[in-house]
Amino acid sequence: MLNFEFQNPTKILFGEGQIAALGREIPENARILITYGGGSVLRNGVLDEVKSALSGRQLFEFGGIEPNPTYETLMKGLEIIKAESINFLLAVGGGSVIDGTKFLAAAACWELGDPWDILLHAGKGIHRALPLGTVLTLPATGSEMNCGAVISRANRQINLPAGGGSVNAGVQSVITQSYNEKLFFTNPLVYPRFSVLDPSKCYTLPARQVGNGIIDSFVHVTEQYLTYVTGAKVQDRLAEGLLLTLIEEGPRALAEPENYEVRANLMWTATLALNGLIGAGVPQDWTTHMIGHELTALFGMDHAQTLAVVLPALLTLQLDEKLDKLVQYGERIWGITEGADKARAEAAIAQTRAFFESVGVATRLSDYGVKEENLGEVLERLNQHGFVILGEHQSVTLERVRQILLAAL
Ligand code: NZQ
Ligand code: ZN
Repeated sequence: MLNFEFQNPTKILFGEGQIAALGREIPENARILITYGGGSVLRNGVLDEVKSALSGRQLFEFGGIEPNPTYETLMKGLEIIKAESINFLLAVGGGSVIDGTKFLAAAACWELGDPWDILLHAGKGIHRALPLGTVLTLPATGSEMNCGAVISRANRQINLPAGGGSVNAGVQSVITQSYNEKLFFTNPLVYPRFSVLDPSKCYTLPARQVGNGIIDSFVHVTEQYLTYVTGAKVQDRLAEGLLLTLIEEGPRALAEPENYEVRANLMWTATLALNGLIGAGVPQDWTTHMIGHELTALFGMDHAQTLAVVLPALLTLQLDEKLDKLVQYGERIWGITEGADKARAEAAIAQTRAFFESVGVATRLSDYGVKEENLGEVLERLNQHGFVILGEHQSVTLERVRQILLAAL
């Protein structure tokens, strides 16, 4: 096991009816901005429930945070925060609303210029943030109990050297390109103070989001588990427990949307998959996510769709480096106990792909209209963002990413 430090300050209020407890978690005199997305919480009554739990408090609202939340939208929320002297943020929604609210928490106290720099510096330089809490309605990202957020920006203008960069110093001309970006930041100051996890609030999720949540949680686990053996038995078995639960309960959530126990198991699994616990003391990969963020920015694919496409291809290309863990995964998760190691690893990857497809998420780039001629752009973006060496062994170069993407077509 590797050395580690672990601290997670987020208080979890889990179970049906826990929204009623919101009042005691937020200071009495707080000026509270409730943030939400495109309207699901208006339609399913969650917002009303939140407001009645906080009746008599100073409440303000900011809705319209979109999936893959954008800087442009969030800057409008920042204006409300400043105009109304907001001092507590309450996110009600999925990962996008929570991530957007984390950005607002940091941006409200950011004194170093344009808040987009928070993303450009991956969260370094945040010295203060507004306190925030969350009411989760979509189990997937783990954002409700971690200190990360992913924010997009439409049409960001960047200057590039004309001619693909191969120009002589001194005679360089510049072209301006605009493109969509999706970047992450992390900082301990944006851990939610608390998160309410009421599984019954997931009953209204469309099947597509249920499938997405299963895949996102699954891949959060594999990014921290399918690396190399370090003898971290507790972390391995926790990770395997989460994977087995997703495989068992994921399809049931699609078949029985109002089964509380199923929703409860999925919700807690998604939180534990990315709250730092299973990643403490083990190597981590995150290549699938880094490639996935560029695919969303470029082609508008859902976050989980990108993961479902990249992971099977990545595991196939990285099979030798990950062999021991893939064999363990095949045996403990899929019951594959026969054959040579390589064949067992290949069978485990095939099972993974079949599972993703069984919950309704296609696993080929071509399923989403992405073609071979588009792949160069993905490599360009990774290069521009400095993500040129990835993986638990830092062995995934851009050439390797190209091979992964070709295999994912
Ligand atoms: O916007 P509304 O109307 O609320 O509808 C949402 C949205 O359309 C809907 N929804 C949410 N709860 C619902 C519901 N519909 C009916 N009933 C409910 N109970 O679902 C749609 C998708 O919501 P979104 O929040 O975008 O999904 P998700 O939770 O999967 O979040 C995805 C975002 O999180 C980022 C992703 O990159 C993406 O931007 N991630 C954040 C991470 C983190 N902070 O740690 C880690 C992840 O790897 C991920 O990158
Ligand atoms: Zn994810």
